[in-house]
Formats: sequence, structure tokens, C-alpha cells
Amino acid sequence: ILGLQDSASPLMEQLIFFHDHALLILVMITVLVGYLMFMLFFNNYVNRFLLHGQLIEMIWTILPAIILLFIALPSLRLLYFLDEINEPSVTLKSIGHQWYWSYEYSDFNNIEFDSYMIPTNQLSTDGFRLLDVDNRIVLPMNSQIRILVTAADVIHSWTIPALGVKVDGTPGRLNQTNFFINRPGLFYGQCSEICGANHSFMPIVIESVPVNYFIKWI
Ligand code: CUA
Repeated sequence: ILGLQDSASPLMEQLIFFHDHALLILVMITVLVGYLMFMLFFNNYVNRFLLHGQLIEMIWTILPAIILLFIALPSLRLLYFLDEINEPSVTLKSIGHQWYWSYEYSDFNNIEFDSYMIPTNQLSTDGFRLLDVDNRIVLPMNSQIRILVTAADVIHSWTIPALGVKVDGTPGRLNQTNFFINRPGLFYGQCSEICGANHSFMPIVIESVPVNYFIKWI
């Protein structure tokens, strides 16, 4: 499949808009440069009056700088949006291990559990191979959620494409991010730091449910 997953959070929506924006600029530049390079084939390299071209050199120096600004400014805007923490109502702590994740709901009775990938030979027929876990994270939708990420052994990365979340779990450090899930469903993710032999086998599953279901679950 080409492209990004459907977004499940406002920040991921913004990331997709930015991706499309950058891609559009990229296409325009590629077409222009491609056209210029193609036209070189028909150049006879002779021009009796050509000695210098101050104007064109001014244009092709300044124009790329302006184009880069059109990418840099929205990029910075997004960067600061992603870093913003807006009064989270739930905090989840995820700890990376070789090779599984463990989770702690520190503000709800300190619930904690491990989350292992379900091996292919134990997978149910409707399960996703290499992607399903034995214990899912349950989180309320339409709420601001804070994630604290760390690791117990080597560097891991807690990554969920549909939510626009990607945070490294580093031993001895506590990283923070936040997101807002705007629909119910299952959201899958994987570790994205090369963390050893079973790096590919420590997926993440979030079950996004209405708030009252979450209260019941907790
Ligand atoms: Cu943990 Cu890769």
C-alpha cells in the first residue's frame, strides 16, 4: 500500500496534510528540473551574445530559498504542535524490553501488565500475524492522553502510525508525548529502533473505546 494510514488523531491529520504539501512542492520541482534537463538535449551549445546572466542567476538563487521557507515554516509549526501537552486525563507509561512492551497505568491503582506478540502458531484465524498481542492497551477515545516512554535494556521506540506517535524508549530516561484518539478502533504499532534479534516481534496494540467502557475496564 502506498501512502499513510488513515489518521486517528488530529496531529496525524496535520502530519498527513504536511506530507501532501511537501510532496506537491517536490513534484513541481521534479517536473521543472526534468523539463530543463530534457531540453538540454536540443541545445546546440552556441550563443553568440551570451557572456553573463545576472538576472537568471539572481532568480535561481533566491527562488529555492523561498521555496524552502514554504516547507520549513509549516514544518516548525507542526513540530511545536507535536510537543504541546494539553492537560492529559490519562497517563500511560510504556516500558520497552527485549522483546516486549510493558505498561503501567500509574493514576489508576497502578495497573501494570506485559504485552507480548502472539506467535503465529497460536494466532486465531482473524488475528493479524506479527501484529497482535496478548494484552492490549485500552485507552479512552476523545481524551487527551499522555504517554511516558522508557526502556529497561536497550533503546526501543514506541511507534503508532495512525496516531502520529513515535517516541524512543531509552534506558535511564523518560520521554513524553501526547495524543488524542478521535475514533474507536484498534490501532497497531511496532518498535522502530533496531533493538536486537526479535526487534520485529514486539508490536503495540491500542484498543480505543468510549470513556465509560474505559472506566469499566479499569
Ligand atoms: Cu524494541 Cu526494536
